Amino acid sequence: MTHLSVNLNKIGLLRNSRGRDYPNMLTMAQRTLELGAFGITIHPRPDQRHATYQDAYDLKELLKQYPGRELNIEGFPDEKFLEVVLEVEPEQCTLVPDDPNQLTSDHGWNIGRDQDALRPVIAKLQEKGIRVVLFMDPVADNMALAKSVGADRVELYTEAYANAYHTEQRDEVNVTYQEAAQAALEAGLGVNAGHDLDLENVGLLCADKRITEVSIGHALTVEALEFGWDNVVKKYLGQMA
Ligand code: PXP
Repeated sequence: MTHLSVNLNKIGLLRNSRGRDYPNMLTMAQRTLELGAFGITIHPRPDQRHATYQDAYDLKELLKQYPGRELNIEGFPDEKFLEVVLEVEPEQCTLVPDDPNQLTSDHGWNIGRDQDALRPVIAKLQEKGIRVVLFMDPVADNMALAKSVGADRVELYTEAYANAYHTEQRDEVNVTYQEAAQAALEAGLGVNAGHDLDLENVGLLCADKRITEVSIGHALTVEALEFGWDNVVKKYLGQMA
């Protein structure tokens, strides 16, 4: 079974929009873990507009009550990010080549160019027992390179897969992802996947059992609204009656 790590950035975004601690990140994480999710992911960006660095510390404390479950912290390895991750010691850290003000992650690492910067960062995180994942475009030829800089896993960037899912290109694009995943496995890497995955498209990607973990945030939050909205509106109408 593929592990599900629920990305709680959108919970942080909602919370931050009103200046109150509501919704509470830890309550939502706890509910998620109680339901059986394998992990919680956050992606604290330098402006902390979604998850904050403090969330990383708080979630780590919560996860201690759930042995065997995992905290995954994603982000660009700048000085502050690394300071927090090395202190928090999550089970997994996913390194992403984000610009500070980027709306969302939109490309994988160019390892040929960035390998000298990545190698010591990966080693430092691993010294603390943290599993290190590199966010990668689905290019089979680049997987051995990810292994050579010391990564434990790659996370395949799945926006292109999600975009193709409802088009005629779906199977062809899925093959590209499966080939990249296979190349990663053959290079000795584990394979995660994420970005724009949802209830409809996630099954096919994981069907061939190459993917160890998916992290899903945006669609999961929207789907929670879609599937919960009617119920809550009815409850309010009940109160008004
Ligand atoms: N992986 C990475 C590296 C991301 O930046 C994000 C978005 O924060 C995700 C996965 C999850 O994407 P989504 O929110 O579309 O599920």
